[in-house]
Amino acid sequence: MLQLDQTLGQRPGQQWVGMAMTGCGSSAPALSLDNEGMSQFVETSDEWIASRTGIRRRHLAAPHESLVGFASEAARAAIAMANLQPTDIDLILLATSTPEDLFGTACQIQAKLGASRAVAFDLTAACSGFIFGLVTAAQFIRTGVYRNIVLIGADVLSRWVDWGDRRTCVLFGDGAGAVVLQASDRDRLLGFALQSDGTQNSDLNLAYQPHPTELTPGVSIGQGSFAPVTMNGQEVYRFAVRRVPEIIEKALFHAGLDAKDLDWLLMHQANQRILDAVAKRLNIPPEKVVSNLAEYGNTSAASIPLALDPEVRQGRIKPGDIIASAGFGAGLSWGSVIFEWGS
Ligand code: ACO
Repeated sequence: MLQLDQTLGQRPGQQWVGMAMTGCGSSAPALSLDNEGMSQFVETSDEWIASRTGIRRRHLAAPHESLVGFASEAARAAIAMANLQPTDIDLILLATSTPEDLFGTACQIQAKLGASRAVAFDLTAACSGFIFGLVTAAQFIRTGVYRNIVLIGADVLSRWVDWGDRRTCVLFGDGAGAVVLQASDRDRLLGFALQSDGTQNSDLNLAYQPHPTELTPGVSIGQGSFAPVTMNGQEVYRFAVRRVPEIIEKALFHAGLDAKDLDWLLMHQANQRILDAVAKRLNIPPEKVVSNLAEYGNTSAASIPLALDPEVRQGRIKPGDIIASAGFGAGLSWGSVIFEWGS
């Protein structure tokens, strides 16, 4: 007879459990390119990039480096902070838009970590990927199915931008960040809200371009490749400063909290002007706004955990702190999660 895996699943009479975030980690390429370096091959300047975005440099993956490498390093650090072993992990969720295998990259990370018990899969929601992943992972914990989950946000967008297009290439960098989510007696996921609007898809995408090939008369297929990132910057900017404060307010409402209850605003790192505009709209003072834009630029799904990790390791974010996190980007998609750090 089929045996139920005793390490998984909610037992009869067991309380429904909540989620606690107990570890984090991050990893980025050693190689960095500053704005001055960018101006050597594309018509731009440090003054233009820094004043419009807050970005001073970005880290770029070398040809021999891999998404799997950065993601695994970030995950390993998060697992260690949570005092777990890779074999304790039930689920590995990889939020990425730049997989190294379109069939899924998370399994390679599972193998590299030696997380032999974990099921692993990818989730794609561009720069909202980490937030969408956090909400997805929390459902597995809330329903009592899994106890220990590693959520990774990782992207290597340098491989997908047009390095001759100054409107996009100056914005993006590479990296990975991870968190460990664990079953807990009290739910530290206090509220969330997610949204999508495909009608604005063309404002920001990395689209498949079919090149029609006729195999035999009457049988044509569209093999092709993915185009570089294209973006209507002004539209995305307008979307972000309008929709992101709204979604944070919605998540706060679900949490029964107000913006003044927040210790930190931890947003997707796209543009310092967007961070400032959202904080201003919510009356959140600048010292509560986490930013690593100057060093990393926009690292897509990685940006939130990459920004979180040093804040925790250097003791600025402490257990019990209430954090509003928000992601936004291609899809278009956007979302916010209110959570309490630590257990
Ligand atoms: N260096 C110098 N000049 C530039 C550059 C550059 N890197 N890029 C554009 N310009 C020029 C333009 O050509 C234009 O010149 P023109 O007036 O002679 O035509 C001028 O600067 C102004 O261009 P805009 O696009 O109007 O610049 P804007 O002030 O809107 O800033 C920016 C552009 C920074 C991209 C801004 O629109 C923005 O941040 N948008 C949001 C981007 C974002 O958040 N993306 C999220 C992506 S997340 C994801 O899902 C992947």
